[in-house]
Amino acid sequence: MQNMIGIFDSGIGGLSVFREIRKLLPDEKYIYFSDNAHCPYGEKPKEYIIDRARTITGFMLENGADIIVVACNTATAAAIGTLRAEYSDPADKGVYDRVMRLTGGRRDHILFIGMEPAIKPAAALTGTGVVGVLATAGTLNAEKYKDTRGKYADGVRVVEHIGKGFVELVESGQTDGPETEAVIAESLEPLLNEGADTIVLGCTHYPFLKDTIAKVASTLTPDRSITIIDPAPAVARHTLDLMTAEGTIKREGFSLSLHASGNPAILENMAGSI
Ligand code: DGL
Repeated sequence: MQNMIGIFDSGIGGLSVFREIRKLLPDEKYIYFSDNAHCPYGEKPKEYIIDRARTITGFMLENGADIIVVACNTATAAAIGTLRAEYSDPADKGVYDRVMRLTGGRRDHILFIGMEPAIKPAAALTGTGVVGVLATAGTLNAEKYKDTRGKYADGVRVVEHIGKGFVELVESGQTDGPETEAVIAESLEPLLNEGADTIVLGCTHYPFLKDTIAKVASTLTPDRSITIIDPAPAVARHTLDLMTAEGTIKREGFSLSLHASGNPAILENMAGSI
């Protein structure tokens, strides 16, 4: 196997990114890795996540990946700088040797595509001037997030909240119902109380809760229309652009190879239903 697009996340969240990439690149081969034995990443130390990202990258390169999408905001914030330093510069002899060995000589460097909370489009859309960001603690505390907010939040107020319990709900397949609505309300209400009318989903698991988030928002603030932003379509366009520029689009027929560090059942179910 070769020429595959590698995608990984702490769990099934990255499938929300995969489904958008597949729309634009329907005839490519994909390898998806759910690190669910180590999920959630949200509260884990940075070094732990970097170590997981290295292990998963090595696995995917050995199994046919030629480009890697870090379909996880938390892993992007913690590890993408390290991954690029260790796999992306072919002029560095250590990088060249490592990548050639892992890919069996197919590639001398690897491109990484990461996630970024969509503060820029949200800032352009908000009518109240308040943007709410839902993400994990790891993402919200990272320098990378603070840089993004500093760069794009010009003229708007950004308020944040951890999506407490959201990842666990998605991993257990509980994306709607009264219990899920109650969990969502706890994290969403503080943002709405601050006046937010635009909610950025800063974790790739959260798009699977988008309908329920919209329902809870319309109950909590019936007079305010709320826009919810999922960054996955923009990441998919970026993937298409990069692969076009590199000349690595193959169009040799779709395939999807699924791997999980824990029980693969939820990944297989979800991948079959998106
Ligand atoms: N899907 C994740 C993200 O985008 C990881 C969530 C977690 O494992 O805590 O941040």
